[in-house]
Amino acid sequence: MNLAPSSRKSVSGAATIEEIRLRLKSDFGIHIRPENNTMLEARLSKLARSLGLTGLDALAKHLQVHPEALDVSDLADRMTTNYTYFHRENAHYDYLVESALPQVLAARKRAGQIDLKVWCAAASSGEEPYELAMWIREALSKENVHYPAGLLATDISSKVLDVARKGEYAAAAVAKLPDALIRRYFTKLPSGAMRVTPELHADVTFRRFNLMSPLPFRSQFDIIFCRNVMIYFDRETIHDLLERLYEKTVPGGFLFVGLSESFDRKRCPYTVVRPGIYRRSP
Ligand SMILES: C[S@@+](CC[C@H](N)C(=O)[O-])C[C@H]1O[C@@H](n2cnc3c(N)ncnc32)[C@H](O)[C@@H]1O
Repeated sequence: MNLAPSSRKSVSGAATIEEIRLRLKSDFGIHIRPENNTMLEARLSKLARSLGLTGLDALAKHLQVHPEALDVSDLADRMTTNYTYFHRENAHYDYLVESALPQVLAARKRAGQIDLKVWCAAASSGEEPYELAMWIREALSKENVHYPAGLLATDISSKVLDVARKGEYAAAAVAKLPDALIRRYFTKLPSGAMRVTPELHADVTFRRFNLMSPLPFRSQFDIIFCRNVMIYFDRETIHDLLERLYEKTVPGGFLFVGLSESFDRKRCPYTVVRPGIYRRSP
């Protein structure tokens, strides 16, 4: 995505930075406080240097004529971290296995269906959705049912999604998982790296999706993982997103967010279950 021609009025570096800052918020939810502009300035200075320009004023002038020189989507990607790892905030997986999955499976059975719907909404390089798929397989094998629908994993960054689709990880990264899961869901490659098994790979569908877009799903999800992405959003954006996620959560379904992400309880449509775990009333 490029800076729109409507931006051609701004000529100074400062005005251009402000315009880009607002664009990052409106299009990607990424909230950069004006006092924290240093990182943004550093990224733009790097862009200026790569274009052979000196300083942000020169970059601003260049963008008047060549708005395509700035890919705002790529910039958004660079302003956030894709940091993730297997078994991150593992208390969530314990709750998932011991409590959330049995409850949603029981509800599904009562309704005469067992087609679990799970969405991992900021999937990064795939560690989180693959682990989710492992635990769901484990739970369903106890129920003696075949994994029916698969898991949707989305992220705004195509770069990390390419890594995720490959499904190959360093042995040290995989070692964070319980041994039983490593044995069941990975094969060792001659290089020493670990690849997820074809069955697990097939469980997860990766798609690029910006959480600031309207949620395009017709059905609701039993479980949504949306962890460690709302840290980039301001309060209004978070509450708008929570409302939209709630609409797409089945009654009795669960939302998992990062342990450091907290909301104004009065404005949160979900009931708090425990840190980072929320539920839509059954
Ligand atoms: C810190 S990682 C968290 C990964 C994983 N959920 C975890 O907790 O380990 C944040 C991810 O959110 C993605 N992201 C940032 N803004 C987004 C947006 N507006 N829509 C969708 N994904 C976004 C980033 O690309 C990044 O991969």
